[in-house]
This record gives sequence, structure tokens and C-alpha cells, in this order.
Amino acid sequence: MPPRILCFGAGGHAAVVVDLIQILEAQGEGVLLGLLAEPGAAADVLGVPILGSDAALGSIISSLDATHFVVAVGSVQGGGSLRPRLFARAEAAGLIPFVAIHPKAIVSPHTEIGPGTVIMAGAVLQARVLIGRNVIVNTRCSLDHDCIVGDHAHLAPGSVLSGGVTLGVASHVGTGATIIHDIRIGDGATVAAGATVVQNCPPGATVVGTPARLLRSKP
Ligand SMILES: CC(C)(COP(=O)(O)OP(=O)(O)OC[C@H]1O[C@@H](n2cnc3c(N)ncnc32)[C@H](O)[C@@H]1OP(=O)(O)O)[C@@H](O)C(=O)NCCC(=O)NCCS
Repeated sequence: MPPRILCFGAGGHAAVVVDLIQILEAQGEGVLLGLLAEPGAAADVLGVPILGSDAALGSIISSLDATHFVVAVGSVQGGGSLRPRLFARAEAAGLIPFVAIHPKAIVSPHTEIGPGTVIMAGAVLQARVLIGRNVIVNTRCSLDHDCIVGDHAHLAPGSVLSGGVTLGVASHVGTGATIIHDIRIGDGATVAAGATVVQNCPPGATVVGTPARLLRSKP
């Protein structure tokens, strides 16, 4: 039986995830059952119904025979707790994290991609890249050889990681940011949109600009 998938979220990022899963669905790789979102969200996203809030998760799983999930909530900086919390909640409810890789992403066979991770259109993942759980590799990101990406991290569209970069858990790399080789970005850290990172970034810190400078330390 193909995976029967629920997605958490109904915002802009959810639309991109829905679009991706619909492509995979057309290839027989899963069935998208619907979305979970807080009350007040729209009735559907790209024609996929919103089934209720995550408070109703248990009954939605049993009534629809759901087997898998994707966290389709985005983030605009590091250290957020919502995406990890939804991931843990869905796993605790017995769902399996679904991996969604766009057919127009270029992914070396010598990579490891963790459960629940989504890889969007135009992304390039080179040899020996290791990606954790519940990661967003967004549109047109580039990860060169030997990069390691921690769980729940988000690489925003067009970000570029040179070889050997390590991203911490729940870190965020902003749109169009560039990180040079062998740099370490700490857990929960944020790299601003458009930054060029040439030094390691401590956990929880936010760095901005070219070359990147510290905007703020851990809050
Ligand atoms: C870095 C970031 C998190 C800072 O957000 P913030 O905490 O709300 O900070 P503010 O907007 O109050 O800006 C604080 C200062 O940093 C500067 N700044 C903010 N973002 C910057 C950026 N991307 N590059 C350079 N400087 C930046 C501001 O100009 C301001 O400078 P000032 O104090 O001299 O006026 C945010 O601007 C950012 O780049 N987020 C990434 C967004 C992203 O990737 N979105 C994609 C989602 S898919």
C-alpha cells in the first residue's frame, strides 16, 4: 500500500509541499489525505482539504488509515520549537515521517537523507551529504560534498553550502546565503538572507551581511 500522508500546516510552505506530494502521488508514491491546521485557516490548500487541528490527530489517523506525515510548516529563523514539536507529536501518534524528494532535484546516490525531510525543486546534493530528520532543503539550494545538516534545519531558497559545512539542529540558512567550506553553524543559529559566512557561527546566534558579522548572540 502506498504511504497515506497527512501534512501539518496550511501556509505558503505547505503549498509547496502539497505541490511536491501531488507530483509524487501522480507517480504512485503516496496518497495525500489532507492537512492539519489551526482553526481559522483556509478550507483547502491547492484543493487538498484541511481536516482539522492537530488536537484531532488521533481520530483523523484512525478514520483515514493515515500511515505517514510531513511537517509542512516553514520557518524564517533558527531555534523555533514548532517544527520539532509537530514532528515529535506525529511520531508519538504512530505516524512514519515521509521523505519527499522533487523529481527535478539532483541528489547524489552517495547521500543519506533522514526521515521526514523534504527536498524541493532544483536542489543539488553532492556526494557524502548527510541530512537529518525533518529538514527543509528548499528550492534551488546547493549542498556540496560532505555537508552535514542537523535535524529540523531549514535551508531557505537559493542558499549555497560549500563542501564540508555543518549545520546544527534547528538552524536556519536564509534565502540566498552562502557559507564557505568547512564552516560550522551551531544549533538553533540563524544565517541572514544574503549573508556570506566565512567564520563559524555559535549556537543560537544570528549572523548577517558579507562577510557575516554577529547581529545577536543566543537570545
Ligand atoms: C536575520 C533576520 C532573522 C533578522 O531578523 P530580525 O531579528 O527581525 O532583525 P531586524 O529586521 O530587526 O533587523 C535588525 C538589523 O539587522 C539588519 N538585517 C536584517 N536582516 C538582514 C540581512 N538579511 N542582511 C543584512 N542585514 C540585515 C537590519 O537592517 C537591522 O539593522 P539596523 O539595526 O542597523 O537597522 C532576518 O532579517 C532574515 O534574514 N531572516 C531570514 C529570512 C528567510 O530566509 N526567509 C526565507 C523563508 S523560506
